[in-house]
Amino acid sequence: MTPTENPTWPLAEKKLRIAPSLLAADFAHLADQIAAVEAAGAEVLHLDIMDGHFVPNLSFGVPVVEKIRPVTKMFLDAHLMITDPLKYAEPFVKAGSDLITFHSETTDDLRPVVDHLRKLGTRVGVSLNPTTPVGSIEPILADVDLVLVMSVWPGFGGQLFIDSVLPKCRQLRDRLRPDQRLQIDGGLAPDTIIRAVQAGCDTIVAGSAIFGQPDPATAYAELHKLGLEARK
Ligand code: DX5
Ligand code: ZN
Repeated sequence: MTPTENPTWPLAEKKLRIAPSLLAADFAHLADQIAAVEAAGAEVLHLDIMDGHFVPNLSFGVPVVEKIRPVTKMFLDAHLMITDPLKYAEPFVKAGSDLITFHSETTDDLRPVVDHLRKLGTRVGVSLNPTTPVGSIEPILADVDLVLVMSVWPGFGGQLFIDSVLPKCRQLRDRLRPDQRLQIDGGLAPDTIIRAVQAGCDTIVAGSAIFGQPDPATAYAELHKLGLEARK
């Protein structure tokens, strides 16, 4: 399947998408939380997978993704903050993830990871920590479906947005093809989303600003509206 054949991820269409990050959800009521943002219009659900090694924190793993898959039609975007994506990507794909994003900092040889993910039949994303330059993903830039710019140091929700990543977003915006997406993750809120969208980001991850709010559906809708206005 080529990227544009997947109806749930129309890469060629640079529609602005807000991807709620489940990390900030109430884990005692996951199905309700997921249903609320889906009903509000969310099409992408961001799943933060942490191994306590690449990042100094643990989150959730394959069994949670397996349980989520049947309760939502949203595109499941798995952000693997793990040291060994080659070893662990397959179970996340089998559990129903639609996109696997791995961290560029985990290897000096990015190509085998991209090839492995392609063989698994999943969409492929590559992530850059706040100080990792675009040049480090140059060899595979043309071959990924999405580039994720971290606007916080990965490992924890609720951190402050790092503005100095915005020039990197602009640089990537000018390099990526129309069928490739530019995602940003960390500290996105009503003020920072405007700057991120103006810098060219089209897929905005938000945890605290959605699931950390009393009414996640309303928070989603407000962020989406602000993002669309910033695009004008
Ligand atoms: C951080 C994660 C983020 C995080 C975002 O390591 O990758 O996805 O959940 O959380 P907020 O939106 O609260 O900064
Ligand atoms: Zn994330």
